[in-house]
Amino acid sequence: MRYLDVDTGTVKISKIGLGTWQFGAREWGYSQQYAEQDSQLIVARAIELGVTLFDTAEIYGFGRSERILGRAISGHRDAVFLATKILPVLPVAPVVEQRAVASASRLGVTRLDLYQVHQPNPAVRDGTIMRGMRSLQRVGLVTEVGVSNYSLSRWQAAEAALGGPVLSNQVRFSLVAPGPGRDLVPFAERSGRVVIAYSPLGQGLLSGGYHRSNRPANRVRALNPLFLPDNLERAEELIGVLRQVAAAHSATPAQIALAWVIRSPAVVAIPGASSLAQLESNVAAADIELADDEWRALSDAAQRFSPVGGPSVLPRLLRARLAR
Ligand SMILES: NC(=O)c1ccc[n+]([C@@H]2O[C@H](COP(=O)([O-])OP(=O)(O)OC[C@H]3O[C@@H](n4cnc5c(N)ncnc54)[C@H](OP(=O)(O)O)[C@@H]3O)[C@@H](O)[C@H]2O)c1
Repeated sequence: MRYLDVDTGTVKISKIGLGTWQFGAREWGYSQQYAEQDSQLIVARAIELGVTLFDTAEIYGFGRSERILGRAISGHRDAVFLATKILPVLPVAPVVEQRAVASASRLGVTRLDLYQVHQPNPAVRDGTIMRGMRSLQRVGLVTEVGVSNYSLSRWQAAEAALGGPVLSNQVRFSLVAPGPGRDLVPFAERSGRVVIAYSPLGQGLLSGGYHRSNRPANRVRALNPLFLPDNLERAEELIGVLRQVAAAHSATPAQIALAWVIRSPAVVAIPGASSLAQLESNVAAADIELADDEWRALSDAAQRFSPVGGPSVLPRLLRARLAR
């Protein structure tokens, strides 16, 4: 495993982490056995392999993900950089404080290494929420503050409101969502901040395992326009480039997709895993180094990928869902 060169004062952050939305969230459609047993084995193996960054949120499975993760890390607290998120529905300081305590209690810990605002509140600026974050830091319940789904300007405004570093911005970042590479990643690189890449495998699309006649069935991906038949077809060229680079490294397309996203020293990725084998494969991607020409070929293919999107896809998503 490789780690970020950022001093957090607690545990160093692994370049590949584990996203745990999948734990106990019905929309992923995984089994009861996955929620109860596989999740425990996946976390234990991740820790064994040097993964430190574990990401969850109060909203995932309405607290179930936090509980499942908390059970899995008990006894390993010192080996874990624990990140969770608050949904800023009522972003006032006392609510923020109370929600942090509730998350910590579900996780069974007395310290959240990273407490992230899950998404920008469109109606309320960050002054009040950051007041809550500041007092959580002061009492030691929260070590680092982060945000998620923030633009660069809002990330910087959040820092001004906190009066200190907002360590990370967790955003959708992958070969099918390369946007953060333009502004967030350069900012993170020059200011000692971190971009946490979520959906780094495009929710599994970049594994190359899905196509027009083999589409994933669960609710998360039924509602993701990337998995519309047209878009799966449009992604074939990108998957082809991934396969070529993968062959040169005796790796899988998913591993190359992760290696591409974490190439910057300021980026870590938090892929979810539906099995132990996926977790192991994702962890191994931390050690793959892409040559400059490989990185460029992948980046160019990512730019050429233009999925159909916007409001016009809504009827298609509905039709695709009803056709199942
Ligand atoms: N902040 C936010 O707003 C936000 C939003 C979304 C996610 N997140 C976080 O980011 C994490 C990851 O994002 P995500 O789950 O949306 O997408 P992802 O990590 O891109 O995709 C995860 C899915 O890809 C498949 N997969 C994983 N490893 C694989 C491998 N080695 N080979 C083939 N397939 C593989 C699995 O699904 P199958 O096996 O079923 O195909 C798995 O459930 C989440 O768990 C969550 O913690 C945050």
